[in-house]
Amino acid sequence: MIFWRVKPLDQILATAEKKALKRQLGPVQLTLLGIGAIIGTGIFVLTAEAGQKAGPGMMVAFVIAAVVCALAALAYAELAAMLPVSGSAYTYTYGVLGEAVAWLVGWALVLEYAVAAGAVAVGWSGYMNGLLASAGMSLPEFLRTGPYDGGSFNLLAFIISLVITGLLVIGTSKSAWVNAVLVAIKVVALSVFVVMAIPAVKNPNFAPFLPAGWGTPLGGFGVLGAAASIFFAYVGFDAVSTAAEETKNPNRNIPIGLIASLAVCTLFYLLVGYGAVGSVGSQPVMGADGMPLPPGSPELAAACKNLDALVCSKEPLAHVLKLLGFAGIGNFIGLAAALALPSVILMMIYGQTRIFFVMSRDGLLPEGLSKVHPTFHTPHIITMITGVAVSLFSAMFPVGILADISNSGTLFAFMAVAVGVMILRVTQPDRARPFRTPLVWIVCPAAILGCLLLFLNLSAYTIELFVGWAAIGVVVYLAYGLRKSHLADR
Ligand code: ALA
Repeated sequence: MIFWRVKPLDQILATAEKKALKRQLGPVQLTLLGIGAIIGTGIFVLTAEAGQKAGPGMMVAFVIAAVVCALAALAYAELAAMLPVSGSAYTYTYGVLGEAVAWLVGWALVLEYAVAAGAVAVGWSGYMNGLLASAGMSLPEFLRTGPYDGGSFNLLAFIISLVITGLLVIGTSKSAWVNAVLVAIKVVALSVFVVMAIPAVKNPNFAPFLPAGWGTPLGGFGVLGAAASIFFAYVGFDAVSTAAEETKNPNRNIPIGLIASLAVCTLFYLLVGYGAVGSVGSQPVMGADGMPLPPGSPELAAACKNLDALVCSKEPLAHVLKLLGFAGIGNFIGLAAALALPSVILMMIYGQTRIFFVMSRDGLLPEGLSKVHPTFHTPHIITMITGVAVSLFSAMFPVGILADISNSGTLFAFMAVAVGVMILRVTQPDRARPFRTPLVWIVCPAAILGCLLLFLNLSAYTIELFVGWAAIGVVVYLAYGLRKSHLADR
Protein backbone atom coordinates (compact mmCIF):
# COMPACT_ATOMS: atom_id res chain seq x y z
CA MET A 1 0.00 0.00 0.00
CA ILE A 2 1.79 3.11 -1.27
CA PHE A 3 0.45 5.38 1.43
CA TRP A 4 2.37 3.26 3.91
CA ARG A 5 5.55 3.43 1.85
CA VAL A 6 7.01 5.81 4.38
CA LYS A 7 10.74 6.39 4.27
CA PRO A 8 12.14 6.09 7.81
CA LEU A 9 13.61 9.40 8.94
CA ASP A 10 16.92 7.80 9.87
CA GLN A 11 17.17 6.36 6.39
CA ILE A 12 16.54 9.82 4.90
CA LEU A 13 19.37 11.22 6.98
CA ALA A 14 21.68 8.33 6.06
CA THR A 15 21.01 8.66 2.30
CA ALA A 16 21.98 12.30 2.49
CA GLU A 17 25.28 11.36 4.09
CA LYS A 18 26.09 8.86 1.33
CA LYS A 19 25.87 11.12 -1.69
CA ALA A 20 26.50 14.43 -0.04
CA LEU A 21 27.01 17.77 -1.71
CA LYS A 22 29.78 19.92 -0.22
CA ARG A 23 28.78 21.68 3.06
CA GLN A 24 29.88 25.27 2.68
CA LEU A 25 27.03 27.67 3.60
CA GLY A 26 26.84 29.52 6.97
CA PRO A 27 23.96 31.50 8.62
CA VAL A 28 24.71 34.85 6.98
CA GLN A 29 25.06 33.30 3.56
CA LEU A 30 21.82 31.39 4.12
CA THR A 31 19.91 34.50 5.20
CA LEU A 32 21.24 36.26 2.14
CA LEU A 33 20.16 33.32 -0.01
CA GLY A 34 16.71 33.62 1.59
CA ILE A 35 16.42 37.36 0.96
CA GLY A 36 17.79 36.77 -2.51
CA ALA A 37 15.01 34.29 -3.17
CA ILE A 38 12.24 36.33 -1.53
CA ILE A 39 12.53 39.95 -2.70
CA GLY A 40 11.79 40.00 -6.38
CA THR A 41 9.01 40.22 -8.88
CA GLY A 42 6.42 40.12 -6.11
CA ILE A 43 7.27 43.51 -4.69
CA PHE A 44 8.82 45.06 -7.80
CA VAL A 45 6.11 44.02 -10.29
CA LEU A 46 3.06 42.36 -8.72
CA THR A 47 2.35 45.39 -6.52
CA ALA A 48 0.39 46.71 -9.51
CA GLU A 49 -1.62 43.50 -9.77
CA ALA A 50 -2.42 43.53 -6.05
CA GLY A 51 -3.56 47.16 -6.36
CA GLN A 52 -5.81 46.23 -9.26
CA LYS A 53 -7.37 43.43 -7.22
CA ALA A 54 -7.81 45.24 -3.91
CA GLY A 55 -7.07 48.98 -4.20
CA PRO A 56 -5.44 50.51 -1.11
CA GLY A 57 -6.63 47.40 0.76
CA MET A 58 -3.62 45.64 -0.77
CA MET A 59 -1.74 46.78 2.31
CA VAL A 60 -3.95 44.46 4.32
CA ALA A 61 -3.22 41.78 1.72
CA PHE A 62 0.50 42.20 2.40
CA VAL A 63 -0.13 41.64 6.09
CA ILE A 64 -2.35 38.59 5.57
CA ALA A 65 0.18 36.95 3.24
CA ALA A 66 3.00 37.74 5.69
CA VAL A 67 1.12 36.15 8.59
CA VAL A 68 0.42 32.98 6.60
CA CYS A 69 4.07 32.77 5.56
CA ALA A 70 5.32 33.37 9.09
CA LEU A 71 3.16 30.51 10.36
CA ALA A 72 4.37 28.25 7.56
CA ALA A 73 8.00 29.29 8.20
CA LEU A 74 7.71 28.25 11.84
CA ALA A 75 6.54 24.82 10.74
CA TYR A 76 9.18 24.62 8.02
CA ALA A 77 11.94 25.46 10.44
CA GLU A 78 11.11 22.52 12.72
CA LEU A 79 11.25 19.97 9.94
CA ALA A 80 14.19 21.63 8.20
CA ALA A 81 16.25 21.45 11.39
CA MET A 82 15.20 17.85 12.15
CA LEU A 83 15.91 16.71 8.61
CA PRO A 84 18.77 18.82 7.30
CA VAL A 85 18.72 17.22 3.86
CA SER A 86 17.84 18.40 0.37
CA GLY A 87 14.31 18.23 -0.93
CA SER A 88 12.37 20.41 1.56
CA ALA A 89 8.64 19.68 1.70
CA TYR A 90 9.03 16.67 -0.57
CA THR A 91 11.53 14.94 1.72
CA TYR A 92 9.64 15.77 4.90
CA THR A 93 6.41 14.40 3.44
CA TYR A 94 8.18 11.21 2.36
CA GLY A 95 9.19 10.62 5.95
CA VAL A 96 5.76 11.34 7.40
CA LEU A 97 2.88 10.89 4.97
CA GLY A 98 4.47 8.37 2.63
CA GLU A 99 5.55 8.17 -0.96
CA ALA A 100 2.32 8.90 -2.80
CA VAL A 101 1.69 12.17 -1.01
CA ALA A 102 5.40 13.02 -1.16
CA TRP A 103 5.36 12.57 -4.92
CA LEU A 104 2.38 14.91 -5.20
CA VAL A 105 4.14 17.48 -3.02
CA GLY A 106 7.32 17.18 -5.11
CA TRP A 107 5.20 17.54 -8.23
CA ALA A 108 3.56 20.67 -6.76
CA LEU A 109 7.00 22.06 -5.90
CA VAL A 110 7.74 22.11 -9.62
CA LEU A 111 5.05 24.78 -9.78
CA GLU A 112 6.53 26.58 -6.80
CA TYR A 113 10.09 26.70 -8.05
CA ALA A 114 10.27 26.25 -11.82
CA VAL A 115 7.11 28.21 -12.63
CA ALA A 116 8.11 30.92 -10.15
CA ALA A 117 11.50 31.18 -11.83
CA GLY A 118 9.66 31.76 -15.08
CA ALA A 119 7.44 34.42 -13.47
CA VAL A 120 10.44 36.30 -12.12
CA ALA A 121 12.19 36.10 -15.49
CA VAL A 122 9.12 37.67 -17.10
CA GLY A 123 8.99 40.39 -14.41
CA TRP A 124 12.66 41.09 -14.99
CA SER A 125 12.11 41.42 -18.71
CA GLY A 126 9.46 44.11 -18.04
CA TYR A 127 11.97 46.33 -16.22
CA MET A 128 14.71 45.53 -18.72
CA ASN A 129 12.51 46.37 -21.69
CA GLY A 130 11.66 49.67 -19.97
CA LEU A 131 15.34 50.48 -19.51
CA LEU A 132 16.16 49.59 -23.11
CA ALA A 133 13.29 51.78 -24.28
CA SER A 134 14.49 54.76 -22.26
CA ALA A 135 17.94 54.27 -23.77
CA GLY A 136 16.38 54.30 -27.25
CA MET A 137 17.22 50.65 -27.89
CA SER A 138 13.79 48.98 -27.73
CA LEU A 139 13.43 45.43 -28.96
CA PRO A 140 10.79 44.88 -31.64
CA GLU A 141 7.40 44.59 -29.96
CA PHE A 142 6.91 40.92 -30.81
CA LEU A 143 10.08 40.01 -28.86
CA ARG A 144 9.12 41.97 -25.73
CA THR A 145 6.32 39.77 -24.38
CA GLY A 146 4.82 36.31 -24.86
CA PRO A 147 1.80 35.52 -27.02
CA TYR A 148 -0.78 36.10 -24.24
CA ASP A 149 0.61 39.54 -23.56
CA GLY A 150 0.43 41.06 -27.02
CA GLY A 151 3.81 39.80 -28.32
CA SER A 152 5.15 36.49 -29.65
CA PHE A 153 8.27 35.49 -27.74
CA ASN A 154 9.73 37.09 -24.61
CA LEU A 155 13.34 37.08 -25.73
CA LEU A 156 14.89 38.68 -22.64
CA ALA A 157 13.14 36.32 -20.20
CA PHE A 158 14.34 33.41 -22.33
CA ILE A 159 17.95 34.59 -22.36
CA ILE A 160 18.21 35.45 -18.65
CA SER A 161 16.91 32.01 -17.66
CA LEU A 162 19.61 30.34 -19.75
CA VAL A 163 22.37 32.57 -18.36
CA ILE A 164 21.33 31.78 -14.78
CA THR A 165 21.29 28.08 -15.58
CA GLY A 166 24.90 28.38 -16.73
CA LEU A 167 25.88 30.00 -13.40
CA LEU A 168 24.26 27.17 -11.48
CA VAL A 169 26.03 24.52 -13.51
CA ILE A 170 29.37 26.16 -12.71
CA GLY A 171 28.79 25.98 -8.95
CA THR A 172 26.93 27.12 -5.85
CA SER A 173 29.61 29.15 -4.10
CA LYS A 174 30.27 31.42 -7.02
CA SER A 175 26.53 31.91 -7.51
CA ALA A 176 26.02 32.62 -3.80
CA TRP A 177 28.65 35.35 -3.93
CA VAL A 178 26.94 37.02 -6.88
CA ASN A 179 23.68 36.63 -4.98
CA ALA A 180 25.02 38.55 -1.97
CA VAL A 181 25.91 41.56 -4.10
CA LEU A 182 22.51 41.54 -5.79
CA VAL A 183 20.71 41.29 -2.46
CA ALA A 184 22.51 44.45 -1.38
CA ILE A 185 21.33 46.23 -4.52
CA LYS A 186 17.68 45.22 -3.88
CA VAL A 187 17.77 46.31 -0.27
CA VAL A 188 19.25 49.69 -1.22
CA ALA A 189 16.64 50.16 -3.98
CA LEU A 190 13.70 49.39 -1.69
CA SER A 191 15.17 51.63 1.03
CA VAL A 192 15.50 54.51 -1.43
CA PHE A 193 11.91 53.95 -2.56
CA VAL A 194 10.64 54.07 1.02
CA VAL A 195 12.61 57.21 1.84
CA MET A 196 11.30 59.00 -1.26
CA ALA A 197 7.67 57.79 -1.20
CA ILE A 198 6.68 57.91 2.47
CA PRO A 199 7.04 61.70 2.88
CA ALA A 200 4.58 62.08 -0.03
CA VAL A 201 1.85 59.96 1.64
CA LYS A 202 -1.54 61.72 1.75
CA ASN A 203 -4.64 60.49 3.53
CA PRO A 204 -7.07 60.94 0.58
CA ASN A 205 -5.08 58.34 -1.37
CA PHE A 206 -6.39 55.66 0.99
CA ALA A 207 -10.06 56.28 0.17
CA PRO A 208 -12.04 54.27 -0.69
CA PHE A 209 -9.92 51.74 1.15
CA LEU A 210 -11.67 48.55 -0.02
CA PRO A 211 -13.11 49.34 -3.47
CA ALA A 212 -13.37 45.62 -4.31
CA GLY A 213 -14.32 44.38 -0.84
CA TRP A 214 -12.75 41.36 0.81
CA GLY A 215 -13.25 39.00 -2.11
CA THR A 216 -15.15 35.78 -2.72
CA PRO A 217 -13.81 32.21 -2.96
CA LEU A 218 -12.41 31.39 -6.45
CA GLY A 219 -13.04 35.02 -7.41
CA GLY A 220 -9.45 36.21 -7.42
CA PHE A 221 -10.50 39.71 -6.28
CA GLY A 222 -10.64 41.89 -3.21
CA VAL A 223 -8.25 41.84 -0.28
CA LEU A 224 -8.10 38.04 -0.12
CA GLY A 225 -7.64 37.70 -3.87
CA ALA A 226 -4.78 40.20 -3.68
CA ALA A 227 -3.30 38.33 -0.70
CA ALA A 228 -3.39 35.08 -2.70
CA SER A 229 -1.40 36.78 -5.49
CA ILE A 230 0.97 38.87 -3.39
CA PHE A 231 1.80 35.73 -1.42
CA PHE A 232 4.23 35.26 -4.30
CA ALA A 233 6.28 38.15 -2.94
CA TYR A 234 7.11 36.08 0.16
CA VAL A 235 7.71 32.76 -1.53
CA GLY A 236 11.30 31.66 -1.51
CA PHE A 237 12.17 31.56 2.19
CA ASP A 238 11.72 27.81 2.06
CA ALA A 239 14.42 27.67 -0.64
CA VAL A 240 16.77 28.07 2.32
CA SER A 241 15.75 24.66 3.54
CA THR A 242 16.51 23.12 0.17
CA ALA A 243 20.14 24.08 0.74
CA ALA A 244 20.28 22.09 3.97
CA GLU A 245 22.61 19.48 2.56
CA GLU A 246 25.12 22.17 1.65
CA THR A 247 24.93 24.00 4.99
CA LYS A 248 27.41 23.95 7.86
CA ASN A 249 25.73 23.10 11.19
CA PRO A 250 22.28 22.97 9.56
CA ASN A 251 20.41 22.27 12.79
CA ARG A 252 21.14 25.78 13.96
CA ASN A 253 21.65 27.67 10.72
CA ILE A 254 18.58 26.62 8.72
CA PRO A 255 16.01 28.02 11.22
CA ILE A 256 18.07 31.21 11.52
CA GLY A 257 18.18 31.57 7.73
CA LEU A 258 14.45 30.94 7.30
CA ILE A 259 13.13 33.23 9.97
CA ALA A 260 15.63 36.07 9.58
CA SER A 261 15.11 36.35 5.83
CA LEU A 262 11.30 36.36 6.15
CA ALA A 263 11.35 38.98 8.90
CA VAL A 264 13.58 41.37 6.96
CA CYS A 265 11.46 41.08 3.82
CA THR A 266 8.15 41.56 5.64
CA LEU A 267 9.36 44.82 7.11
CA PHE A 268 10.39 46.12 3.70
CA TYR A 269 7.14 45.09 2.02
CA LEU A 270 4.93 46.81 4.55
CA LEU A 271 6.90 50.03 4.18
CA VAL A 272 6.97 49.83 0.38
CA GLY A 273 3.23 49.03 0.19
CA TYR A 274 2.37 51.95 2.47
CA GLY A 275 4.60 54.30 0.48
CA ALA A 276 3.25 53.23 -2.93
CA VAL A 277 -0.43 53.35 -2.00
CA GLY A 278 -0.23 56.48 0.14
CA SER A 279 1.85 58.58 -2.25
CA VAL A 280 0.07 58.08 -5.59
CA GLY A 281 -3.05 56.02 -4.78
CA SER A 282 -3.89 52.57 -6.13
CA GLN A 283 -7.56 52.55 -7.13
CA PRO A 284 -8.42 49.64 -9.46
CA VAL A 285 -9.66 50.17 -13.01
CA MET A 286 -13.28 49.04 -12.87
CA GLY A 287 -15.30 47.23 -15.53
CA ALA A 288 -18.91 47.91 -16.47
CA ASP A 289 -20.08 45.55 -13.71
CA GLY A 290 -18.46 47.71 -11.04
CA MET A 291 -15.77 45.10 -10.35
CA PRO A 292 -12.04 45.49 -11.08
CA LEU A 293 -10.99 44.29 -14.54
CA PRO A 294 -8.88 41.12 -14.23
CA PRO A 295 -5.13 41.80 -14.18
CA GLY A 296 -3.42 40.46 -17.29
CA SER A 297 -6.61 40.66 -19.38
CA PRO A 298 -6.95 42.38 -22.76
CA GLU A 299 -9.79 44.52 -21.28
CA LEU A 300 -7.50 45.94 -18.62
CA ALA A 301 -4.71 46.46 -21.13
CA ALA A 302 -7.11 48.42 -23.35
CA ALA A 303 -8.44 50.50 -20.45
CA CYS A 304 -4.89 51.22 -19.31
CA LYS A 305 -3.83 52.66 -22.67
CA ASN A 306 -4.84 56.19 -21.66
CA LEU A 307 -4.14 55.90 -17.93
CA ASP A 308 -1.06 56.68 -15.90
CA ALA A 309 -2.18 54.68 -12.88
CA LEU A 310 -0.05 52.56 -10.55
CA VAL A 311 -2.21 49.52 -11.28
CA CYS A 312 -1.44 49.78 -15.02
CA SER A 313 2.33 49.92 -14.71
CA LYS A 314 4.71 47.08 -15.63
CA GLU A 315 7.39 48.72 -13.45
CA PRO A 316 5.24 50.04 -10.57
CA LEU A 317 7.91 51.13 -8.10
CA ALA A 318 9.82 53.09 -10.72
CA HIS A 319 6.48 54.46 -11.92
CA VAL A 320 5.50 55.76 -8.48
CA LEU A 321 8.72 57.75 -8.22
CA LYS A 322 8.29 59.11 -11.74
CA LEU A 323 4.76 60.26 -10.86
CA LEU A 324 6.19 61.96 -7.77
CA GLY A 325 8.63 63.86 -10.00
CA PHE A 326 11.74 61.82 -9.24
CA ALA A 327 12.28 60.39 -12.73
CA GLY A 328 16.03 59.86 -12.28
CA ILE A 329 15.59 57.94 -9.03
CA GLY A 330 12.75 55.99 -10.66
CA ASN A 331 15.21 54.89 -13.34
CA PHE A 332 17.67 53.91 -10.62
CA ILE A 333 15.01 51.66 -9.08
CA GLY A 334 14.39 50.18 -12.51
CA LEU A 335 18.08 49.52 -12.96
CA ALA A 336 18.33 47.94 -9.51
CA ALA A 337 15.40 45.64 -10.28
CA ALA A 338 16.94 44.71 -13.61
CA LEU A 339 20.26 43.93 -11.92
CA ALA A 340 18.84 42.13 -8.90
CA LEU A 341 15.86 40.05 -10.01
CA PRO A 342 18.16 37.47 -11.62
CA SER A 343 19.24 36.42 -8.10
CA VAL A 344 15.65 35.30 -7.49
CA ILE A 345 15.60 33.31 -10.70
CA LEU A 346 18.84 31.74 -9.53
CA MET A 347 17.42 30.64 -6.18
CA MET A 348 14.27 29.28 -7.77
CA ILE A 349 16.06 27.18 -10.37
CA TYR A 350 18.51 26.11 -7.67
CA GLY A 351 15.66 24.95 -5.41
CA GLN A 352 14.02 23.10 -8.26
CA THR A 353 17.17 21.22 -9.24
CA ARG A 354 17.83 20.11 -5.66
CA ILE A 355 14.29 18.75 -5.37
CA PHE A 356 14.57 16.85 -8.64
CA PHE A 357 17.98 15.65 -7.44
CA VAL A 358 16.48 14.07 -4.34
CA MET A 359 13.47 12.65 -6.17
CA SER A 360 15.76 10.93 -8.63
CA ARG A 361 17.99 9.69 -5.81
CA ASP A 362 14.84 8.08 -4.36
CA GLY A 363 14.14 6.37 -7.68
CA LEU A 364 10.97 8.34 -8.41
CA LEU A 365 12.66 10.02 -11.36
CA PRO A 366 15.38 8.43 -13.56
CA GLU A 367 18.63 8.11 -11.59
CA GLY A 368 20.84 9.49 -14.34
CA LEU A 369 19.39 12.89 -13.44
CA SER A 370 21.15 12.98 -10.07
CA LYS A 371 24.67 12.63 -11.53
CA VAL A 372 27.04 15.13 -9.95
CA HIS A 373 29.54 16.89 -12.24
CA PRO A 374 33.12 15.73 -11.55
CA THR A 375 34.63 19.23 -11.58
CA PHE A 376 31.81 21.56 -10.54
CA HIS A 377 30.19 19.19 -7.97
CA THR A 378 26.72 20.27 -9.12
CA PRO A 379 23.82 18.16 -10.42
CA HIS A 380 24.48 19.51 -13.90
CA ILE A 381 22.12 17.34 -15.95
CA ILE A 382 18.99 18.19 -14.01
CA THR A 383 20.07 21.83 -13.80
CA MET A 384 20.26 22.07 -17.57
CA ILE A 385 16.93 20.33 -18.13
CA THR A 386 15.21 22.60 -15.60
CA GLY A 387 16.83 25.72 -17.05
CA VAL A 388 15.70 25.00 -20.59
CA ALA A 389 12.12 24.34 -19.41
CA VAL A 390 12.06 27.59 -17.41
CA SER A 391 13.42 29.51 -20.40
CA LEU A 392 10.70 28.21 -22.66
CA PHE A 393 7.71 28.98 -20.47
CA SER A 394 9.07 32.36 -19.40
CA ALA A 395 9.22 33.17 -23.10
CA MET A 396 5.55 32.26 -23.56
CA PHE A 397 3.42 33.23 -20.50
CA PRO A 398 2.52 36.46 -18.61
CA VAL A 399 3.91 37.17 -15.14
CA GLY A 400 0.64 37.29 -13.16
CA ILE A 401 -0.59 33.94 -14.43
CA LEU A 402 2.75 32.25 -13.74
CA ALA A 403 2.85 33.76 -10.24
CA ASP A 404 -0.65 32.58 -9.36
CA ILE A 405 0.04 29.06 -10.65
CA SER A 406 3.24 28.98 -8.65
CA ASN A 407 1.34 30.06 -5.54
CA SER A 408 -1.11 27.17 -5.88
CA GLY A 409 1.74 24.65 -5.72
CA THR A 410 3.47 26.44 -2.87
CA LEU A 411 0.35 26.64 -0.73
CA PHE A 412 -0.24 22.93 -1.22
CA ALA A 413 3.32 22.14 -0.13
CA PHE A 414 3.05 24.41 2.92
CA MET A 415 -0.09 22.62 4.06
CA ALA A 416 1.68 19.26 3.77
CA VAL A 417 4.57 20.54 5.88
CA ALA A 418 2.31 21.81 8.67
CA VAL A 419 0.45 18.48 8.71
CA GLY A 420 3.80 16.69 8.86
CA VAL A 421 4.98 18.66 11.88
CA MET A 422 1.88 17.73 13.86
CA ILE A 423 2.01 14.05 12.92
CA LEU A 424 5.66 13.75 13.92
CA ARG A 425 4.98 15.42 17.25
CA VAL A 426 2.59 12.56 17.98
CA THR A 427 4.38 9.63 16.33
CA GLN A 428 7.98 10.53 17.23
CA PRO A 429 7.75 12.80 20.25
CA ASP A 430 11.25 11.95 21.48
CA ARG A 431 13.17 12.63 18.28
CA ALA A 432 15.65 15.49 18.68
CA ARG A 433 14.19 18.82 17.55
CA PRO A 434 16.86 21.52 17.39
CA PHE A 435 14.07 23.98 16.59
CA ARG A 436 10.56 23.48 17.96
CA THR A 437 7.60 25.29 16.42
CA PRO A 438 6.20 27.39 19.28
CA LEU A 439 2.54 26.75 20.23
CA VAL A 440 2.54 23.98 17.66
CA TRP A 441 -1.13 23.03 18.12
CA ILE A 442 -2.16 26.59 17.33
CA VAL A 443 0.51 27.56 14.81
CA CYS A 444 0.22 24.50 12.54
CA PRO A 445 -3.59 24.41 12.25
CA ALA A 446 -3.55 28.19 11.70
CA ALA A 447 -0.91 27.75 8.96
CA ILE A 448 -3.07 25.12 7.25
CA LEU A 449 -6.21 27.27 7.46
CA GLY A 450 -4.32 30.33 6.23
CA CYS A 451 -2.89 28.45 3.23
CA LEU A 452 -6.33 27.04 2.45
CA LEU A 453 -7.88 30.50 2.62
CA LEU A 454 -5.34 31.89 0.16
CA PHE A 455 -5.58 28.85 -2.10
CA LEU A 456 -9.36 29.23 -2.35
CA ASN A 457 -9.02 32.90 -3.20
CA LEU A 458 -6.89 32.24 -6.27
CA SER A 459 -8.90 32.48 -9.49
CA ALA A 460 -10.96 29.46 -10.56
CA TYR A 461 -8.73 29.21 -13.63
CA THR A 462 -5.59 28.84 -11.51
CA ILE A 463 -7.14 26.14 -9.36
CA GLU A 464 -8.26 24.23 -12.45
CA LEU A 465 -4.70 24.30 -13.73
CA PHE A 466 -3.42 23.08 -10.37
CA VAL A 467 -5.83 20.16 -10.40
CA GLY A 468 -4.84 19.33 -13.99
CA TRP A 469 -1.15 19.38 -13.05
CA ALA A 470 -1.79 17.12 -10.06
CA ALA A 471 -3.70 14.68 -12.28
CA ILE A 472 -0.73 14.50 -14.68
CA GLY A 473 1.46 13.88 -11.63
CA VAL A 474 -0.65 10.93 -10.57
CA VAL A 475 -0.35 9.38 -14.03
CA VAL A 476 3.44 9.85 -14.11
CA TYR A 477 3.73 8.31 -10.66
CA LEU A 478 1.63 5.29 -11.55
CA ALA A 479 3.57 4.82 -14.79
CA TYR A 480 7.07 5.26 -13.35
CA GLY A 481 7.75 6.04 -9.69
CA LEU A 482 5.45 3.40 -8.27
CA ARG A 483 7.58 0.61 -9.77
CA LYS A 484 10.99 2.27 -9.81
CA SER A 485 10.96 3.66 -6.27
CA HIS A 486 13.79 2.43 -4.06
CA LEU A 487 11.12 1.52 -1.52
CA ALA A 488 9.24 -0.69 -4.03
CA ASP A 489 9.26 -4.46 -3.41
CA ARG A 490 11.67 -5.96 -5.90
N1 ALA B 1 9.26 35.99 -3.74
C1 ALA B 1 9.82 35.96 -5.03
C2 ALA B 1 9.47 37.16 -5.82
O1 ALA B 1 8.82 38.03 -5.36
C3 ALA B 1 9.47 34.72 -5.75
O2 ALA B 1 9.86 37.31 -6.92
